[in-house]
Amino acid sequence: MEQQVDRLRVIVTNGEERFAEAVIAGLDRAPKTLPCRFFYDLEGSRLFEKISQEPSYYLTRTEREILAESADEIVGEMGEGLSVVELGGGNSIKTRLLIDAILRRQSRLHFTNVDISQEYLEDSAKALLADYPNLEMDAIAAEYGDAFDLLPASDGPRLFLFMGSNIGNSSPGEAGDLLCRLSSIMDSDDALLVGIDRLKDPAIIEAAYNDENGITEAFNRNILARINRELGGNFDIEMFVHRARFRPEKGRIEMHLVSAGKQTVDVLGRSFGFKQGESIQTEECAKYSRPQFAALAASVDLRVDRSWTNKNEWFDVHLLRLANGG
Ligand code: AVI
Repeated sequence: MEQQVDRLRVIVTNGEERFAEAVIAGLDRAPKTLPCRFFYDLEGSRLFEKISQEPSYYLTRTEREILAESADEIVGEMGEGLSVVELGGGNSIKTRLLIDAILRRQSRLHFTNVDISQEYLEDSAKALLADYPNLEMDAIAAEYGDAFDLLPASDGPRLFLFMGSNIGNSSPGEAGDLLCRLSSIMDSDDALLVGIDRLKDPAIIEAAYNDENGITEAFNRNILARINRELGGNFDIEMFVHRARFRPEKGRIEMHLVSAGKQTVDVLGRSFGFKQGESIQTEECAKYSRPQFAALAASVDLRVDRSWTNKNEWFDVHLLRLANGG
């Protein structure tokens, strides 16, 4: 579906069937899993926004500090007549720092934002367009993989954004595939800016995913509430306990929902049994040392051109270009 309103083009791909299919496949698996991209209905997106304001969740705040300090320098690395394509941009609050820097250099900007949550995406696009009269936008409500063929053509250089440690939510194989698809559509004057959460003391990482106010727990459980709302499931949400632990051997934190007792849940005419203590893995978020990330980039013919970090080096922002110059 495509809809054009003043300075905004909205493209929506149909994800509903995939949600149902993915839920059934994930609950059929042993151990059970649910893909984290389905966290982000409107409620989930709002909960994530709240998480990002929690004191222990340092990722968003730290990336914003880096952009606040270095946005002009980052944009200065790019050629004239720049456009921006963001994957998983959500409400684009941090992106505003880059938009400001670009509009200090050029009079107009085309910004494409790809996000899975249609309502959230449209709301944030309208807010951006209200604040920036010189902005034009494509808002593509889609899973990343479906969005590549829908991106608008561009004459000038493009800055792709994949911020906020979003790439960490993909397994190493999926992250490689995604970067590979991105590198395959990049030209020599394009670049990809990625936000990467650095490997660090596991206690700091675990605190970020176990905030004191229980927002991450609500965010995690919202996927079950969403199954109840949209697929007529009958999960007793209180019977699933949030657990987030760092797995040093894998270099990632995992989120789980652990069954507080023996129970059966019905979804779309299917029954799924849970033993006490059995978990559903709902998310993983990989953390990378600098050499590990450079190796991942190199494996898909990208090179780290420049990097920025914050004072305590908890988070990195890397500018990647085609390794062979395109
Ligand atoms: C969006 N993503 C990078 C967040 C993360 O840190 O993995 C999602 C999140 N999960 C729990 N808290 C935040």
